[in-house]
Amino acid sequence: MSRYKNDFLLADSNYLLNHSVGRPLKTIEKAFKESFLSPWQHLAKEPWANWLDVIHNFQLALSSLFNAPAEQFCPQVNLSSSLTKILMSLTSLNKDNVVILMSEIDFPSMGFALQKALPKSADIRFIDKSLDITNANVWQQHLTKDIDLVFVSKAYSNTGQLAPVREVISLAKELGIISVLDIAQSAGVIPLNLQDMSPHFMIGSSVKWLCGGPGAAYLWVNPGIIEQCQPKDVGWFSHENPFEFDIHHFDYNQSAMKFWGGTPSITPFALASHSIDYFATIGASFVRKHNQGMIDLIVDEFDTQVMSPLNKDTRSGTVILDFKDKQTVIMDALSHANISVDARHLGMRVSAHIYNDSDDVQQFIDVVKQHY
Ligand SMILES: Cc1ncc(COP(=O)(O)O)c(C=O)c1O
Repeated sequence: MSRYKNDFLLADSNYLLNHSVGRPLKTIEKAFKESFLSPWQHLAKEPWANWLDVIHNFQLALSSLFNAPAEQFCPQVNLSSSLTKILMSLTSLNKDNVVILMSEIDFPSMGFALQKALPKSADIRFIDKSLDITNANVWQQHLTKDIDLVFVSKAYSNTGQLAPVREVISLAKELGIISVLDIAQSAGVIPLNLQDMSPHFMIGSSVKWLCGGPGAAYLWVNPGIIEQCQPKDVGWFSHENPFEFDIHHFDYNQSAMKFWGGTPSITPFALASHSIDYFATIGASFVRKHNQGMIDLIVDEFDTQVMSPLNKDTRSGTVILDFKDKQTVIMDALSHANISVDARHLGMRVSAHIYNDSDDVQQFIDVVKQHY
């Protein structure tokens, strides 16, 4: 049995849906009580000082996971809203005919934010979904000098592919193009070191492989661009001194916290920082190795049904399988056996975490084989 299995609330299921929502740690309730509730239970004062420590701990957890200073991370509600804040903050993007490059297989919400936050004349170019997004040459062909911003995702959950983000970011830098990296599908399962590879902005969440629940997203801002950023969606917590309380005077916080806003929520960050700490200690390389080992077991059985990349350099934490006309019967049988997976246009998505082990994967394989 996986030695991590006992650490998580799995509700007796064989849970392979980590591209959607990761399972919480069993210690989450205790951690939440200690960080969020106990100041209320034990102090007569208002608990803001303790709650702001929760946010600082969230930044520290991210700092240790992604190897960048804590103050370069700003808590956010979700990636869509983070992206909107980025777009509105730069004068270079708020001009006529601004040009954006992204992929047609990016998460749709990212496209919605780009379409609505930018001026109507914005030209949003999509790399066609038929092209191989894992190939750096495809990006190179599309990254023309007239582009103002490139949006790239580390991992794509519907295809199980990885983008060559290092190449994309460095090419963008050479051409003076702003880069935004989406790590929603890779944070926690694919190592990322911001000292080795630094886009202008990185946006992510805690809900999937980091098992930290919804609402604890984050924005990382490269120190090279922070001064140019003038967020429009601000509040007193974006102020250099939130407690100055002079309605006639606003100074941006000098750090990424200029992107924060009004009175922040604390609960999601109390839950998530506990979980991110756990994964930062284990390390994303370890999680990746385990996850790829589980994918290997599946690929060994069903290699001709695999729709996601077989090459380990270009495959994400999710394997996609297409059992053609048997797909519906197999999905029903898996659900009946309490094995959680889901399906998108390319096929069934299967994502194993460190709490899954070879017994889980074997059970999955056995159920599929009974119906295929
Ligand atoms: C690649 C990617 N980006 C972003 C998101 C989510 O964006 P948001 O936090 O705005 O809901 C997802 C959700 O599945 C995703 O897969």
